[in-house]
Amino acid sequence: MSPTRVPDILSPEFAANPYPAYRMMRDTAPLIWHEATRSYLVSRYEDVQRVFRDRNGEFTTDNYAWQIEPVHGRTILQLSGREHAVRRALVAPAFRGSDLRERFLPVIERISRELIDVFRHTGSADLVADYGARLPVSVIAEMLGLDAADHPRFHRWYTSVIAFLGNLSGDPGVTAAGERTRVEFAAYMLPIIRERREHPGDDLLSTLCAAEVDGVRMSNEDIKAFCSLLLAAGGETTDKAIGGIFANLLRHPDQLAAVRADRGLIPRAFAETLRYTPPVHMIMRQSATEVTLSGGTVPPGATVTCLIGAANRDGSRYRDADRFDIFRDDLTTATAFSAAADHLSFALGRHFCVGALLAKAEIEIGVDQLLDAMPDLRLADGFAPTEQGVFTRGPHSLPVHFTPTDT
Ligand code: HEM
Repeated sequence: MSPTRVPDILSPEFAANPYPAYRMMRDTAPLIWHEATRSYLVSRYEDVQRVFRDRNGEFTTDNYAWQIEPVHGRTILQLSGREHAVRRALVAPAFRGSDLRERFLPVIERISRELIDVFRHTGSADLVADYGARLPVSVIAEMLGLDAADHPRFHRWYTSVIAFLGNLSGDPGVTAAGERTRVEFAAYMLPIIRERREHPGDDLLSTLCAAEVDGVRMSNEDIKAFCSLLLAAGGETTDKAIGGIFANLLRHPDQLAAVRADRGLIPRAFAETLRYTPPVHMIMRQSATEVTLSGGTVPPGATVTCLIGAANRDGSRYRDADRFDIFRDDLTTATAFSAAADHLSFALGRHFCVGALLAKAEIEIGVDQLLDAMPDLRLADGFAPTEQGVFTRGPHSLPVHFTPTDT
C-alpha cells in the first residue's frame, strides 16, 4: 500500500478515528515526512521507544522553544543535561513518596468527594464535565495554594495552552489566545509568588520558592513558568485519563464489574487505558545528528513527531493490541508509572512524566469513590462515547446514569 493513502493527521477522517491510519503507518510507512507540520512522523513501537529513551544522545527537546515557550516561558521540558537534572531534582520530591502521601492524598480525597457530592443523589452525571475536567486542575491549584474560586480562569488558561501546543495547522486565533494566556497568567501569578516568598505557607508554591539544589534556586520567572506547565501538563492529561478509563470500562461491562469487585485492579485498568487510549497522542523531539530508524533516515536538526497512540497499539509489542484488556499479561502494571514503563504514554527517559504517581493517585482515589457513589453505573440511553482531539485526545463527554446514593 502506498504511503499516500494514509489519511493525513490534519484530516477530519484522522480526527474521527486515528487508529486505522496508525495501523497503515506502522505497516507501510513507518517514517513519513509531513509537510504541513514540517516534521517526520514515527509510528512503530521500537522507533518511538528509541527516540524517547535516547540512549545515544541523538535527540533534544529544543522543539519546545517554539512549541511551548511562547505560552509558558522556559520550562523543564526544554532543558537538558545538568540544568534539567537540577531543576527536576527541585520539583520531583513533591510528586512522590511522603510528600505525595501525607500532603496531597488528603487533598485529592476531599476535592473528589466534594465534586461527587454535587451529583451522587441525582442519579445522573457527565463524568467529563462534572468530574474529569474539574478534579485534576483543582488538585494542582490547591497543591500550589491558589484560590479555588479562580478555577474557571485556570481551566480557560490550560485549555488555551494545550490548544497552542496542539495547533498543528497553525490557526492564528489559537496562537493569539495562547500568547494572551501567557500575559494574563504572569499578571496573576507573579504577585502571588512575591507574596509567598515573604510569607511562606505549607504549600507547593512555598516549597518551590525555598527549594535549593547545589546552591541553585528558582527565579520568580522560573516558578511562574513551572506553575503554568503544571496546570496544563497535570490538568488536561489527567482530565482525559479519567474520561478514558470510564469510557473503556463502560464499553466492557465484564471488566467494569471486575474492577468494582476488586479495587486493587484500578492501577491495571489505568495502565491499560494509558496504553489503549493515551491522553497525549503526540510528543515531538529534535534530532541532534543524522538518525536511522526502522523506516529510514532523519537528517540532523529535524522535528520528529512520535505517535504514541500508534506505538502503543503496535502488534509486534502487544498481542491483540486493538483490544482493551485489563488482564493482558504483556503490559506490566508494576512499572507502568515509572520510567521503566513499557507503554509510552508518559514518554521515557529524562523527561518521563514527573507527575505520573500523582496522576495514579488521582485515578485510584477518583475511580474508587465514583464506583462507591454510583451503583449500577451505565451510559445514558443511546449514548456511545466518542473521542475528540488529535494532539491530546479523550471523550468529549460521558453522560451516565446510576442508582442515587446519600453522602
Ligand atoms: C495521565 C496523566 C498524564 C499524562 C498522560 C502525562 C504525559 C506526559 C508526557 C508524555 C510527558 C513527557 C513530555 C516529553 O517527554 O516531551 C510528561 C512530562 C511531564 N509531566 Fe505529565 N502527564 C500526566 C500527568 C501529569 C501530572 C498530574 C503532572 C503534575 C501535576 C504532570 C507534570 C509533568 C511535567 C512537569 C513534565 C515534564 C517533565 C520533564 O521535562 O522532566 N503530568 N507528561
